[in-house]
Amino acid sequence: MADNPDLARYIGFVNTNQETDMKTVLITGCSSGYGLETARHFHAMGWNVIATMRSPRAGLLPASDLVRLLALDVTRADSIAAAVAAAGPVDVLVNNAGIGVVGAFEATPMNHVRRMFETNTFGVMAMVQAVIPQMRARRAGVIVNVTSSVTLAPMPLAAAYTASKQAIEGFTGSLAHEMAAFGIRAKLVEPGYAPTTRFAANTDIPVADLIPPAYADFAAPIFAAFASPPQTTREADVAEAVWQAATDGTPQLRYPAGADAVALAQGA
Ligand SMILES: NC(=O)c1ccc[n+]([C@@H]2O[C@H](COP(=O)([O-])OP(=O)(O)OC[C@H]3O[C@@H](n4cnc5c(N)ncnc54)[C@H](OP(=O)(O)O)[C@@H]3O)[C@@H](O)[C@H]2O)c1
Repeated sequence: MADNPDLARYIGFVNTNQETDMKTVLITGCSSGYGLETARHFHAMGWNVIATMRSPRAGLLPASDLVRLLALDVTRADSIAAAVAAAGPVDVLVNNAGIGVVGAFEATPMNHVRRMFETNTFGVMAMVQAVIPQMRARRAGVIVNVTSSVTLAPMPLAAAYTASKQAIEGFTGSLAHEMAAFGIRAKLVEPGYAPTTRFAANTDIPVADLIPPAYADFAAPIFAAFASPPQTTREADVAEAVWQAATDGTPQLRYPAGADAVALAQGA
């Protein structure tokens, strides 16, 4: 190559362009489950990945120049501001962090309902508000909000969780219109049930405490059905759906992810 300066300049030119075109994704809640797998997927596709976690832990993702770990708690304004400032330009924001609760609504403490909304609903909104200015300035970007298949058909014993996710469904559908005016897309990924993530463990209220005796007969067959679902969702299904939503260049709003979610979306 040293013998051929034109070729060297050409390769330099190509490399420079590749660096300019390199895309960056910021994902919330990467310590486990769907968020971790989505981070792995974007890394495997050659993207810069800003993997955010409440308590960053090395070793979950490949050691790579393309991966940066940042601390982020989506319920804290100071944490959001620091993470978004440290991240720099972001092409795709994936709002994946979420917590749940299963039980009779009557028995679900309002402080837990509020905590869930702080994460699943207001946390998502705050992250969106934090990245819009830079995306609007570049007239480019994609925002992917991860909700749930509970928004596709009403499910029992999930009223508060469903409310927190339905709010984001409506929010994102409306937001997509005003974002489109600036070349930004806003999208929804709707995963089904994955027994393999940490989701069930990620709530500090034992389910037994949320099923009062009066609900026991109603709840028993529902929990029996939960224990052996005919179809489930794999982490890879969600990573692939987020990838599609982020990169397909279409205005499609909703992406059900996983066999159970796809069946629900098709009305099966
Ligand atoms: N698994 C399912 O059956 C299912 C079905 C439909 C939709 N979803 C949705 O999919 C998303 C991912 O869930 P998952 O199944 O992968 O569960 P998961 O393994 O528990 O992962 C959830 C992630 O969110 C993070 N998180 C929780 N609160 C946070 C906060 N305040 N700030 C930042 N990060 C926070 C957790 O981090 P920590 O390690 O710090 O707790 C964890 O990394 C959630 O939005 C969930 O509602 C899950």
